[in-house]
Amino acid sequence: MPKKIQFHLFLLASLTILLNHQTHADPPYHNCSSTSTFTDGTKFQSNLQQLLVLLTSKSSVSNFYNTSVGQDPGSTVYGNFLCYNYVSRQTCEQCISTAVQDIQMLCPQHKEAINWEEYCQLRYSDRNFFGSMDYTTNLTFYNFKNISDPYLFRGVVKGLMGNLSRQAAFDSDLKMYSYGESRLDSHETVYGMVQCTGDLSGKDCNTCLQNAISAIQSCCFFYRGARVYARSCFLRYELYPLGETSPSDSSSSKRDKKTLLAILIATIGTAIVLAILLILCVYHRLRRKGKLPDGRDVAVKRLSCISEQGSEEFTNEVLLIMKLQHKNLVRLLGCSIEGDEKILVYEFMPNGSLDVLLFDEEKRPQLDWTTRFNIVNGISRGLLYLHQDSRLRIIHRDLKASNILLDNNNNPKISDFGMARIFGGTLGEANTSRIVGTYGYMAPEYAMEGLYSIKSDVFSFGVLMLEIVTGKKNAGFHLSKRAPSLLTYAWDLWSEGKGLELMDPLLTTTCSTDEFLRCIHIGLLCVQEDAADRPTMSSVVVMLGSDSSSFPQPLQPASYSSVGRVEFQLDISMDYSTNNAPLNSVPPR
Ligand SMILES: *[C@@H]1O[C@H](CO)[C@@H](O)[C@H](O)[C@H]1NC(C)=O
Ligand SMILES: *[C@@H]1O[C@H](CO)[C@@H](O)[C@H](O)[C@H]1NC(C)=O
Ligand SMILES: *[C@@H]1O[C@H](CO)[C@@H](O)[C@H](O)[C@H]1NC(C)=O
Ligand SMILES: *[C@@H]1O[C@H](CO)[C@@H](O)[C@H](O)[C@H]1NC(C)=O
Ligand SMILES: *[C@@H]1O[C@H](CO)[C@@H](O)[C@H](O)[C@H]1NC(C)=O
Repeated sequence: MPKKIQFHLFLLASLTILLNHQTHADPPYHNCSSTSTFTDGTKFQSNLQQLLVLLTSKSSVSNFYNTSVGQDPGSTVYGNFLCYNYVSRQTCEQCISTAVQDIQMLCPQHKEAINWEEYCQLRYSDRNFFGSMDYTTNLTFYNFKNISDPYLFRGVVKGLMGNLSRQAAFDSDLKMYSYGESRLDSHETVYGMVQCTGDLSGKDCNTCLQNAISAIQSCCFFYRGARVYARSCFLRYELYPLGETSPSDSSSSKRDKKTLLAILIATIGTAIVLAILLILCVYHRLRRKGKLPDGRDVAVKRLSCISEQGSEEFTNEVLLIMKLQHKNLVRLLGCSIEGDEKILVYEFMPNGSLDVLLFDEEKRPQLDWTTRFNIVNGISRGLLYLHQDSRLRIIHRDLKASNILLDNNNNPKISDFGMARIFGGTLGEANTSRIVGTYGYMAPEYAMEGLYSIKSDVFSFGVLMLEIVTGKKNAGFHLSKRAPSLLTYAWDLWSEGKGLELMDPLLTTTCSTDEFLRCIHIGLLCVQEDAADRPTMSSVVVMLGSDSSSFPQPLQPASYSSVGRVEFQLDISMDYSTNNAPLNSVPPR
């Protein structure tokens, strides 16, 4: 196969929205420090972007997280987020991605900012604020309805909230959070919750909450409900059980479509200029090197200059990845570092990559239905292992047909996960959040905001699965069919009950229509616009073996017309199909 150079669209976050955000009484509330600002293109800006991506990814596993990106005093960014504990993991994830979007719009170019959404808060700064209590901004909101006996109410609220604060602060099992209720009279109950950011000491947490309680108690105790948003703590009480009461979070993620469109038009121009510049600057080298001294065939991949990672960090990461073992992952056999060059050595896969078979009119007939269904199943298990079952939690970030390699029996193996993002596990907080991806497979939230999670992998998996069963490529689909993408084309036919028309004509004799429609159905569930609606890989694996009558109905898939800020990334795909596999290199940026 000739060496092939692909130019991929991908985004580098960092967006300054010039349009004013409408202010209203509903969240988000924000406070941008007016003292210091940064300019575009600075190290601070890229550190901030990395920080926001990192925090977003952490929201899929925890309700509080603090971290910093960068080492230099001038450009280090410190940040944390807090999801209020009474919301689900999914709501937390969704809330943080909204918060990340909002903070960039509300406080563009501020070196310090905080915003509060209905269920979470997000804060960053150029100075280290971890572990210090801050009550300087205390936004208080009331449920403006008078209570019939305000003095009785005041006493009960004081007792309840005081108790909850002490529990949250000093009972280490509760991890800075407490929820409780107290009887007001024979037919009413007050429900309260308090929470501090997890970096505070117990004493500071209690102080923050006591401040909040006394602020309410002195002024507005006659209202039946209140919320206090402070930088270090949150408090709320109502006469009804607290929880996810209104779905207003989701409405916020849908807003600003028009704004994004306007930005899209403005940024596409910039992107094209950037791309041309980048292409002009590109410099890459390819080399050959495909056998070990003992004669074993291996595939070798060279990375140069891309990573800011130190050698030691890189080696540690590789050593961890080498321990991953799953029959649907390509084994990483080793690595080597020579100066600036980092080399990865992979197990050699004789049948090459899936795209070569799938998108070639002559070779595609080799892939009958059983083989394709087996490939889909294998990929789903490999991905599940990366997401969940290995000791690390790994987001692949660049799942696509050319990263699926086939062994002698056409069993699929996911490759290139070595450079994927590892988080959790024992690695700590490597800040490796270089944003990579391939146009056509990238989830919209990743393409537009740089937010990724296991759900963005699920999206890519959905695209890949639709490609495998239909034999059609998503990228460039609009050039040959009238629909804007394979996804919308599939959704349109499927929702008209004509799903079988999507079938690759080569499959008509070998295909099980049940399995085919099931794959389309699952594929459409995976590519839904809202990441929260997409299934996890564990559900996908289960669904692949189940009757589709019990599956939820998919919503309209994401549309690529809304891809916003983009930058070109040069990615030279690797040729695994010959013994002398050429090396892959990614140029400096
Ligand atoms: C989070 O904050 C705590 C308390 O100040 C600090 O010890 C810890 O190092 C921070 N975590 C990270 C990842 O920076
Ligand atoms: C924002 O925070 C600053 C510093 O803590 C404070 O002085 C200012 O009053 C706050 N602004 C608003 C609108 O709350
Ligand atoms: C915050 O609380 C302090 C007292 O702790 C109060 O003096 C101040 O007015 C409050 N600020 C805001 C913005 O509510
Ligand atoms: C609510 O109670 C406060 C204090 O008793 C009083 O000033 C206010 O007018 C009342 N509001 C209504 C709508 O009854
Ligand atoms: C607060 O805790 C104390 C001691 O545990 C208890 O006696 C009191 O009833 C509690 N008050 C409320 C309002 O829950």
